[in-house]
Amino acid sequence: MKKQVKNNIYWVGKIDWELREFHGADYSIHNGSSQNAYLVQEEKTFLVDTVWEPHKNEFLDNLKKEIDLKDLDFIVINHGEVDHSGALPALLEEVPGLPIYCTQAAVKSLTGMYHHPEWNYNVVKTGDSIDIGNGKSLVFVEMKMLHWPDSMATFMTGDNVLFSNDAFGQHYAVEELFNDKADQCSMDEEALKYYANILTPYSSFAKRKLKEIGDLNLTFDIIAPSHGAIWRDNPTQIIEKYIAWADAYKEDQITVIYDTMWDGTKKLAHKLAKEIREKSPDTVVKVYNISLYDKNDIITEVFKSKAIAVGSPTVGNALLSSVSGWLAFLHEMKFKDKKAGVFGCYGWSGEGNKKLREILTNSGFEVVDEEVKSLYNPTDEIDVQIEALAESLVKA
Ligand code: FEO
Repeated sequence: MKKQVKNNIYWVGKIDWELREFHGADYSIHNGSSQNAYLVQEEKTFLVDTVWEPHKNEFLDNLKKEIDLKDLDFIVINHGEVDHSGALPALLEEVPGLPIYCTQAAVKSLTGMYHHPEWNYNVVKTGDSIDIGNGKSLVFVEMKMLHWPDSMATFMTGDNVLFSNDAFGQHYAVEELFNDKADQCSMDEEALKYYANILTPYSSFAKRKLKEIGDLNLTFDIIAPSHGAIWRDNPTQIIEKYIAWADAYKEDQITVIYDTMWDGTKKLAHKLAKEIREKSPDTVVKVYNISLYDKNDIITEVFKSKAIAVGSPTVGNALLSSVSGWLAFLHEMKFKDKKAGVFGCYGWSGEGNKKLREILTNSGFEVVDEEVKSLYNPTDEIDVQIEALAESLVKA
């Protein structure tokens, strides 16, 4: 059943409480999610985006209860990724030739995904518009690399609604749809996790695009993303957050991240956290064992941090695989303007810290010279190294 968003704009998507992973297993879902698709019934009747392929039948069945599919004038596809375009092939089987408005890059991604170059593509660029009747129009804004080359947002004049697709979204299920109905704390956390884990690598693009959108001097009554809560209460709050997050965001937080074989490196992690707390009582200090915590949640904590410390024992001249694997994920994020320190225990050759230093440097961190390296199980003699590393991180 359609749910009204504003005037003749309706939500016709999927609230997905069962979803536990996204992007394969690369993104954990703790509180459900949604694929928000929209039906607009002005003089023109059209859809903005669809849902993921497993929900295509439910999507089409629900839509048919609201309209005769043959009454659709066109569909806007803001982004070709399958969570938004998955029902498109089934829809086009029912209404062949339906015009698709999308970017040039989306023609490429949709063709790559579904192998239908004959679909009725209508390529749009930033500033192009379509009259939808009743004195309203759609204005398109390319959102290149937020987070795909094909990404786009669509602004509907008259109602001042921005269909922003992935930007400003959260993987968060809200049956009542709107941000004022959501648990504020959970929603804010999910929005932050979404930015930290999906958009951080594209922050330079986000920064430019947010300025461009600001320069348009548009009024936003509603920001309607394709995942999670729809922003209708103070909708620009999420734009303001994105402006801060896109600018090498950091808080007064230091996060200690490690894994351990026989608890030696764990002891170092907690000694370091204690020392940081003593040196800088106002700094938020958090400690995560990579094997015990969700990898995306740790990335979110890194996003908030001004500095991190990463620890692993030396294993096979290298690192524990849990640490190496998580560091490969960290590398993807292209964090900027953050410091890092390294620590770990070793038994004979001790290459762990060198490996950590290399990977963190290649991942964009400024790795401080001070480090903690303990031959076998640490004793109090290690405290001199702990103090030096803590001092250096606190100064970040
Ligand atoms: Fe929600 Fe990039 O797809």
